[in-house]
Amino acid sequence: MGRKFLNIEENYEYMEKLIAEFPDQLQEALDIGRKAHIKSRKYIHEVLICGMGGSGVGAHFVKDFVSETAQVPILINKDYDIPDFADEHTLVLASSYSGNTEETLAAYTAAKKQNCSIIAISSGGELMADAQAAGFDTISLPAGYPAPRACLGFSLVAQLFALHKSGCVPNFFEEQIIDTLERIKLEQEDMRSKAEQIAQLMVDRLPVMYGANRTDATLLRWRQQLNENAKHLAWHQVFPEMNHNEIVGWKGDYSQLLVVALRHRDDPARHQLRMDLTREVFQHWAGGYMEVYSRGGSFLEKSLYLVHLGDWVSYYLAELKGENPDEVKVIDHLKEQLKKYD
Ligand code: F6R
Repeated sequence: MGRKFLNIEENYEYMEKLIAEFPDQLQEALDIGRKAHIKSRKYIHEVLICGMGGSGVGAHFVKDFVSETAQVPILINKDYDIPDFADEHTLVLASSYSGNTEETLAAYTAAKKQNCSIIAISSGGELMADAQAAGFDTISLPAGYPAPRACLGFSLVAQLFALHKSGCVPNFFEEQIIDTLERIKLEQEDMRSKAEQIAQLMVDRLPVMYGANRTDATLLRWRQQLNENAKHLAWHQVFPEMNHNEIVGWKGDYSQLLVVALRHRDDPARHQLRMDLTREVFQHWAGGYMEVYSRGGSFLEKSLYLVHLGDWVSYYLAELKGENPDEVKVIDHLKEQLKKYD
């Protein structure tokens, strides 16, 4: 589309294409998941999902999506080590798109040492090579995607299939994912223009995003996409927790902040009431306030609708700021520096 990015030498972009192809990615992810060979396990006491950044955020959705049907607790691990209690009764999903992320590799190595039951989800790298050599179950993601954050569809669906095929959750999700991708295909143009309007309100302000407790994963995804694609700081908090601390901080001139409430029409009644009552505080002190409602049937569909909308917001915000949504040079640089200390 020949857009100009002010901060880079290259003048190409792939993020727009990757976001636009999200419904196709979900379809491809379903095909991959259906074909995956994962053995059923009868002895699992808990699941530990290890992954960072774009390969880690899927775990937050998985945790929320399976909360009513999971036979065992789902825990999220975003560090080099894993808890001491993890043993042969712990199912570890090691999720790294590149397969070379040091925290995930270290957690995977610890899981091996502690005799955990392991499934590796990756497009290659050290993780896939080692897991295949060790005879662990694996789910191979398509290689060659330049940005793991744009592969959320792959990692999220792979994690759901890994849990289902190993016997930890029923298959509630396939139909819901199909509904989601069909809706997004139909509504994408509309979502893009809505996202562009939201992005315009964010250019000169820092977004502070709120939602009900169960919206935490979606809020986190919005924040991470605003950070990485738009090079924009943002933060989020959930109800009811924010009513017990952060609400008190809302006093003073916060005209540089834009409050964005991500809402589902069927959020728990008490959460809705709290959000409605707190609106007055935001409207008094913040530079702007807006509510964004999800669309869809299932919670999965509604959540991924908001995810897709947020991905477009981050894309348009990058464009408005003259930033290149593709590059995360500062992360690459940091990873290079870290290598010197191996
Ligand atoms: C880059 C991105 C990052 C990576 C993270 C971990 O697009 O989203 O957050 O996901 O640095 O790398 P992987 O996903 O390869 O394990």
